[in-house]
Amino acid sequence: MDARARLRAYLEQRRELGEDEYVLDSMSVEQALSALGALQTGAVAPRQRVPALREPGTGGSAADRPGIPPNIPTQASTEEAPAPSPPPQAAPDVRLETAPEEPMVARKLPEGLVVGQPNGTLFEENPFADVSSITALAKVIEECTRCPLYRTATHAVPGDGRKGAGLMCVGEAPGATEDETGHPFVGAAGQLLTKILGAIQLTRDDVFIANVLKHRPPGNRNPTPDEVRACSPYLLRQIEIVRPRVILALGTFAAQTLLDTKTPIGKLRGMVHRYFGVPLIVTYHPAALLRNPAWKRPTWEDVQLARRVLDSPHR
Ligand code: URA
Repeated sequence: MDARARLRAYLEQRRELGEDEYVLDSMSVEQALSALGALQTGAVAPRQRVPALREPGTGGSAADRPGIPPNIPTQASTEEAPAPSPPPQAAPDVRLETAPEEPMVARKLPEGLVVGQPNGTLFEENPFADVSSITALAKVIEECTRCPLYRTATHAVPGDGRKGAGLMCVGEAPGATEDETGHPFVGAAGQLLTKILGAIQLTRDDVFIANVLKHRPPGNRNPTPDEVRACSPYLLRQIEIVRPRVILALGTFAAQTLLDTKTPIGKLRGMVHRYFGVPLIVTYHPAALLRNPAWKRPTWEDVQLARRVLDSPHR
């Protein structure tokens, strides 16, 4: 198979898997297939969004992706990957700040996964159930020895924000700058997150920003299941205290961990999941956007959805 045929087979498979946001510099699968001559423009009905997903799971890595043909690189499908080679057609210049307003108001919110029950004590067995403020919980986190990560970290990074913040952003784990400063999302990815929030008229003071892990894994390696288990009660208690109206899961790791699924991020986006009754929206990690600007547009759509849910009286 020549390169063109392989690319075509790959895109067709992506499309069959329901992944229309596998973009090559802002080109959708549909557009790329049309450019390759594989689709007549308008001849194929647009793909429907995947309906409510209820896949039980244990969390896991974005690398577990089905059905990618051999010899076809998976870069375009993973957050960690560099941008793929240029598409055969000029891509629009999409900036988070200037993307056009979408007429979302009339559309029903697409429902996604449901984790936990609303209106209960969120986390009955939580060892920190009696820690009643964000500040007190931060102190506990700063002294945490529940997993070995405290030994290699410089500072714990409990999270920034206040009780009652409408939006809670949840990332993966502190990086080097966060470890140095003790604050979440303060490096390059954090600066982009600030801009992303600005695109929906929010400042960092309006939101609570936290991570699944509160200590940095050495060398930014992936968190282990044991570390996640040890650290989860902190995030859960933060959610319970803050009571955000919307949770924004940043990236595959946070999304799959919170939603307890291995479903790829591309299929978790674009719908409103429920995390113990709290609406949860999934988007790409800002660090992934820095490497792949083509994900700016889908991210812009995701945060518009978050804004819409925040503004909705019927959350
Ligand atoms: N990446 C994350 O997931 N969290 C941070 O705080 C910084 C970078």
